[in-house]
Amino acid sequence: MENALRINWRVELIYSKITGWGKYVPPLVMTNYHMAEVIDTSDEWIRSRSGIGQRHYSHISISDMAWMAAEQALACAGVKSADIDLIVLGSTTVEEICPNTASLIKNKLGAHRAAAFDLNSACTSWLYSLSVASDMIKAGSVKKALVIGAERLSLAMDWTKRESCFLFGDGAGAVVIEASDKQAGLQGYHMGCVPDSRECLRIPDWGLSPTHFTETTPISLDFEGQEIFKSAVKGMGEAIEKVLDQEGIAADDIDLFVPHQANIRIIQTLAKRLNFSMEKVVVCIEKYANTSAAAIPLALCDALEAGRVKPGSLILTASFGAGLTYGAGIIRWGDSVTSKGHSSAFIPPFEGTVFDLMADSFAHYGIEVSHLLSDGSEEQLEN
Ligand SMILES: CC(C)(COP(=O)(O)OP(=O)(O)OC[C@H]1O[C@@H](n2cnc3c(N)ncnc32)[C@H](O)[C@@H]1OP(=O)(O)O)[C@@H](O)C(=O)NCCC(=O)NCCS
Repeated sequence: MENALRINWRVELIYSKITGWGKYVPPLVMTNYHMAEVIDTSDEWIRSRSGIGQRHYSHISISDMAWMAAEQALACAGVKSADIDLIVLGSTTVEEICPNTASLIKNKLGAHRAAAFDLNSACTSWLYSLSVASDMIKAGSVKKALVIGAERLSLAMDWTKRESCFLFGDGAGAVVIEASDKQAGLQGYHMGCVPDSRECLRIPDWGLSPTHFTETTPISLDFEGQEIFKSAVKGMGEAIEKVLDQEGIAADDIDLFVPHQANIRIIQTLAKRLNFSMEKVVVCIEKYANTSAAAIPLALCDALEAGRVKPGSLILTASFGAGLTYGAGIIRWGDSVTSKGHSSAFIPPFEGTVFDLMADSFAHYGIEVSHLLSDGSEEQLEN
């Protein structure tokens, strides 16, 4: 009787270790000099205000970019797509809402048994996705997941708005996370959404609305740069303080800071606030610009490729985006810092220049670029 009443408590902690990573960077590049051919701007102005030197524009869909990044992440982890339980696509620019785009990626990967959903919190989408998927692993409901951030924001650029159209680029990044008994993965996070700040960054009419029956509104970004800048620093700064406090970690203990890549001045302000030397900060805004949900996984991949992530590294990450959503997380890296394999997935390049690729978009906003097109005059710029 006594034995029957005895309760045997054995709590096994499950962690969600990152075991694979991959990225897709579209081959076509739009430099600041190209940008100055279509809007009234200069390389000097863009670099000094934002730190951006160029951005990549995609000739393939979000799902194809995500698929390429995911295939590489799976090869890196040595995990078969058939063993994936969950695919989360973080994105604001999905090509299909119903059915969701994650299910399209699932089919491309042949991840037959995976559940699949999209998550949109704008630029924070990947960090939000990582927190949700990690928690599902920690709860024991999922063993292996793919967390993808992919964006094709080039399709949302309004070329009549020089204050915002230079800021964004396309790309995709993905990680494989797996249940593990080793203390690794997303250790803690703090997410939030600034009250009453929806208006300063939004793409009106990018969803279902009765106005679709009566009006055709061109896609355009409503954007108050300075307001977003201030909220970004405040939101990310506070989220970082909260997560460090929550995990009992001092800023000095952080080995690497992988922030959202929206403006080099935002990153520098945050680094100063944390008393981080810029050597601890991963910055890739110069070559990719702001790729929204893809920004952090792309930066993480670059840091791994450059050997900046070591086994056991303590990584701080922080992001903000439309909403205004924000968040910060602490990732304790596992033991794997090199790829177990490489994906052979391939997509043919675009035959033409970046101006050819974007010709319909420029025409839509009344920007004359015929002299820049491949079949135009000699004034055409190289990619
Ligand atoms: C966009 C951003 C780089 C602009 O920098 P800024 O220092 O705030 O610049 P301002 O908007 O005050 O503009 C300064 C001047 O440059 C001009 N300007 C704006 N865009 C320009 C461009 N592309 N080229 C040249 N001049 C430009 C403005 O007209 C203004 O001229 P004025 O002083 O004669 O009126 C900055 O506000 C920012 O990065 N904001 C946050 C980024 C963001 O929101 N990312 C998306 C969310 S994740």
